[in-house]
Amino acid sequence: MINDKFLWGGAIAANQAEGAYNVDGKGLSIMDTVTSGNKDTPRRFTLEFEKNSYYPNHLGIDFYNNYETDTDLFREMGFQCFRTSIAWSRIFPNGDDEEPNEQGLVYYDNLFKTLKEKGMEPIVTISHFEMPLALVKKYGGWRNRKLIDLYARFAEVVFRRYKGIVKYWMTFNEINSTIMVPAIAGIIVGNDDDVKKISYQALHHQFVASAKAVIIGHDIDPENKIGCMVMTTVGYPKTSHPLDVLASQEYLRDGTLFYCDVQMRGEYPNYFKSYGVDLEVLEGDLELLKRGVTDYVGFSYYASQVVSYNGEGDQIQGNMTTGLKNPYLDASPWGWQIDPDGLIYLMRELYERYNKPLFIVENGFGHNDVVEKDGSIVDDYRIDYLSKHIKAMLSVMNTENIEVIGYTAWGPIDIVSAGTGEMDKRYGFIYVDLNNEGKGTLKRIRKKSFQWYKEVIASNGECL
Ligand code: BG6
Repeated sequence: MINDKFLWGGAIAANQAEGAYNVDGKGLSIMDTVTSGNKDTPRRFTLEFEKNSYYPNHLGIDFYNNYETDTDLFREMGFQCFRTSIAWSRIFPNGDDEEPNEQGLVYYDNLFKTLKEKGMEPIVTISHFEMPLALVKKYGGWRNRKLIDLYARFAEVVFRRYKGIVKYWMTFNEINSTIMVPAIAGIIVGNDDDVKKISYQALHHQFVASAKAVIIGHDIDPENKIGCMVMTTVGYPKTSHPLDVLASQEYLRDGTLFYCDVQMRGEYPNYFKSYGVDLEVLEGDLELLKRGVTDYVGFSYYASQVVSYNGEGDQIQGNMTTGLKNPYLDASPWGWQIDPDGLIYLMRELYERYNKPLFIVENGFGHNDVVEKDGSIVDDYRIDYLSKHIKAMLSVMNTENIEVIGYTAWGPIDIVSAGTGEMDKRYGFIYVDLNNEGKGTLKRIRKKSFQWYKEVIASNGECL
């Protein structure tokens, strides 16, 4: 039995849900200029609007204008927490404006107040792929050190404004995305650019910015719990060939643990030397990293993969990664391999390495749901996926005393997919009537999993 402080809920990101991309003083964010795509066609960062391209984040699911009723549905499911992010360009439309945009701040005043009134603890990601586009155009995104102070100022403004209302924060969503998809960090590379060097330098700036935010956040309110947030995945060795096992070890260390090592231990690990990156580290940076250690490990987990030292094998998609197919696992229609045991593997690794609380802030199953003739949506595959992952989580919490703050299912209401821009890659307990071209009534419909998750929460994880 888990303790009653455990937080059950759901998680979204502002850019994938809010829409309202150009109202109430909001500036454009980088995600506003990312086209829609699909499983086989990658999204494109166009930076300017192309006449014939569709930009799904402009509308999202119009959460901005529907949060009152959407949060009613979350309350109906019994959510004890709700994770979202603050769109940076609502608060600082250009990123370097002299004053914050009051209308943007008011929106989050209202949203967080609404959550509190409905019994949900707001869990806030300060930056979830949402940097102001102007920072990309003017400064080159996170490759530029100037971003550190601009981000720290943004963080300070929101820490002050939401003091006493928001207690759980995360500095950057999936900070490893900067290396995997550098454009998310505003890094648009030219032909002659050394992408690896630029990306690690940008990441260094984010590490320092994160540390600064942690220091500021603790200073403003010592009650604040400020976590890191990493995308996690396991890469099992393809065979027992020792080189496959080493490849698997390096996959975990370099793809997941490195990012937590820096933020949870406050220093670059010795093995960073093997990356062969010559970082520009200014005086004071390392001191900041030491002082700005994050309080908990927030992480997303969806799927696992297989790796081999020579890369041979059938390739399969994962969350921002590609790996090899695992003959023992099924996969989602988007190729993400379903592996609840991978969650156990990662929880052990993370807890034993840092001995700090974990927070599973994303886990879920993207599927193209069908609305039946009678209007019902029977998403048994989602119930099956979530139930197995929650069981896995509870098993190690109970038998190995791994401390977990909470579990927020990804996309409790259907939102725009970050990876493909599709609406049809749905994660929700609540269906949103909107298609990949942005057509639909936006009507919300409870899926079968809605009632299921409600019972999971009511029984504190007993009824799965
Ligand atoms: C994570 C992101 O990578 O996975 C989310 O933090 C994203 O923003 C989620 O939506 C699921 O990925 P996708 O591509 O299926 O939306």
